[in-house]
Amino acid sequence: MRSPGVILLTGAGNGIGRATAIALARRGDRLGLIDRDERALASVVEELRSHRDAIAPRSADVTDLSAMRGAASEIEEVLGPVSVLVACAGVGGLTLLPDLDPGALRAMLDVNVVGVANAIDAVLPGMIARGAGHIVGVSSVAGYRGMPWMAAYSASKAALTTYLEGLRPALKRRGIGVTTVYPGFVRTAMTEGTPFRRPVSMMEPEQAARHLIRAIDRRPRDSTFPMGTALGMGLLRRMPNRLYDQMMDRAGPEALTVEF
Ligand SMILES: NC(=O)c1ccc[n+]([C@@H]2O[C@H](COP(=O)([O-])OP(=O)(O)OC[C@H]3O[C@@H](n4cnc5c(N)ncnc54)[C@H](OP(=O)(O)O)[C@@H]3O)[C@@H](O)[C@H]2O)c1
Repeated sequence: MRSPGVILLTGAGNGIGRATAIALARRGDRLGLIDRDERALASVVEELRSHRDAIAPRSADVTDLSAMRGAASEIEEVLGPVSVLVACAGVGGLTLLPDLDPGALRAMLDVNVVGVANAIDAVLPGMIARGAGHIVGVSSVAGYRGMPWMAAYSASKAALTTYLEGLRPALKRRGIGVTTVYPGFVRTAMTEGTPFRRPVSMMEPEQAARHLIRAIDRRPRDSTFPMGTALGMGLLRRMPNRLYDQMMDRAGPEALTVEF
């Protein structure tokens, strides 16, 4: 597959972002790597030491616009113009009543929505000037509908999906494509320790990375994976509201070992 040029990847220190960074570097892509977790970022760089010349790591918090602009411009000075942004940094968490925890909702909206907007803002002037680029936003199937034990996370990913959809036509007119990615469950720190009542089938981060890289290469409008999740969640997404509510009334409490 032809190299897409310089790829800027947020959330590159852990989980899906880390696995994607490693796979992209090994196939010869040039990468700007951003994460707020400096130690995790350093360990990715150490793992990729034989690709050192093709990598520019920067520690930054995606919720800090000026830090993101600074990091993106430093990366471009080292590697050249960013042609693909993969906005993967995200935070999750459960919404377990009676503790509604609006602060957690705010944090998820800040990272999962505003953080993606900041990352786009940081690379957008260059992409517009060149009339080319590709923005890959990592949303989630949890944003297809309101998940009863993930109300805040679902809302943040639904907002991200809608935000990217809304931006798509204006970006397209400027030569910039938008791909929204919807992973199912992936075994990472984000899902670790979720008190599921029954074992839940999860992809490994390396499998998720392969799907993400296919989306980078093929530039579809949307990419949901794995296939089983795409089919199951696709049905749930189109289910009439009354039926969905009835199903969640039952399935919700059966999903977790804790009250919500
Ligand atoms: N795991 C799943 O089942 C799943 C399913 C669907 C979608 N997703 C999405 O996939 C993406 C990656 O998730 P993951 O499971 O790989 O999570 P992860 O293992 O927790 O990795 C996320 C990385 O992003 C970093 N990050 C978080 N907030 C940041 C910020 N404000 N600025 C910069 N970096 C930040 C994290 O740093 P810290 O460690 O310091 O937080 C971490 O290194 C997320 O957008 C997530 O919502 C995950």
